[in-house]
Amino acid sequence: IMKKREYRIFPICLLLALAVCFLAACSSGKGGTQESPGASKSTSKSTSESANGSGNGVDDSGESTEAAEKKLRIGVAIYRYDDNFMKLYREELRQYLEEAYNAEVVVRNARGEQEEQISQVNEFIEAGYDGIIVNLVDTDRAGVIADSCHEAGIPLVFINREPKADEQARWKTEKMVVSCIGTDSKQAGTYQGGIILETEKRGDFNGDGVVSYVMIMGEKDNEDSNYRTEYSIKALEDGGMKTEKLFSGHADWNKEEGRKLAEKALALYGRRIEVIFCNNDAMANGAWEAIDAAGRKTGKDIYLVGVDALEETVQYIKEGKVTGTVLNDHTGQSHTAADVLMKMIHGDEAETRYLVDYVKISTISTLQK
Ligand code: GAL
Repeated sequence: IMKKREYRIFPICLLLALAVCFLAACSSGKGGTQESPGASKSTSKSTSESANGSGNGVDDSGESTEAAEKKLRIGVAIYRYDDNFMKLYREELRQYLEEAYNAEVVVRNARGEQEEQISQVNEFIEAGYDGIIVNLVDTDRAGVIADSCHEAGIPLVFINREPKADEQARWKTEKMVVSCIGTDSKQAGTYQGGIILETEKRGDFNGDGVVSYVMIMGEKDNEDSNYRTEYSIKALEDGGMKTEKLFSGHADWNKEEGRKLAEKALALYGRRIEVIFCNNDAMANGAWEAIDAAGRKTGKDIYLVGVDALEETVQYIKEGKVTGTVLNDHTGQSHTAADVLMKMIHGDEAETRYLVDYVKISTISTLQK
């Protein structure tokens, strides 16, 4: 009797097992078809994409395909990839857009060529992107890009290299969905001068009442270069110091160019140099190498300041190689850019211009805060 029962139970188990297998195969097949459009979609656009895992493992409600298709596509055009500060900026921007907004982000390098950047933006437009972020090569060409995006009905945000005031005013009068995220470069310059005023000798090692300085500037005709230069000296003078410019030159935000200019200045003016101002940290890092090679000692017989708060410079400040820097808040700026773009994509009104504050960094205690 027992045997008979076993025989009867066995086919039932077999049937159940087959049914389970069948159901499992069905559901995994369903998941597979849902994932593949998403996967092939991301590979087809993967030229400059990081791996995009979302959409996988979404339940089988049928909504995952729709959600993947609705992912906002954002194009980002950067003036050049070999700029240390903009590297931090673009990496943070991509990560934030992907993580906070689940956006699909494509970033392009214009390699310092405005025409190349214009065609990159046109490609974004032709591909029907939902929003575009541009770090201009030449701020005078903002209008061309703004017009193309406006005609295509695609919201646009300019970052870092700000279009001129009259161009910004036009966005408002012509009701264009365009905004820009910038900083107050006068503030950065003022902080640099302030850092020198806070030093023991107020920048005046030889005690003659005059701060003799070298100015290593970024690019020519760049707002950051101009205002940081002007306001760092203005701050010293407002603080009661006389100033004397010994040497200045443009090193295009570049470390090696900064090193070369500082080397030249030190060869020409030697011990007369009391302060080296650099419009950014990359150039200050280069200038430190020249200072070191010339046998000078930061804080003992020369002061050196930059802007950006690059990791390497912050380390140099801790080691006493650089006197101070000003934090150029790439996190705040990139998040604001993304938030403003998203606002505009969703049809909300945005301001024409947003400013993100700089933060003065001159001592180890500030760094540790
Ligand atoms: C400045 C920054 C520089 C450089 C420049 C590019 O804000 O301090 O290091 O990145 O932008 O325009």
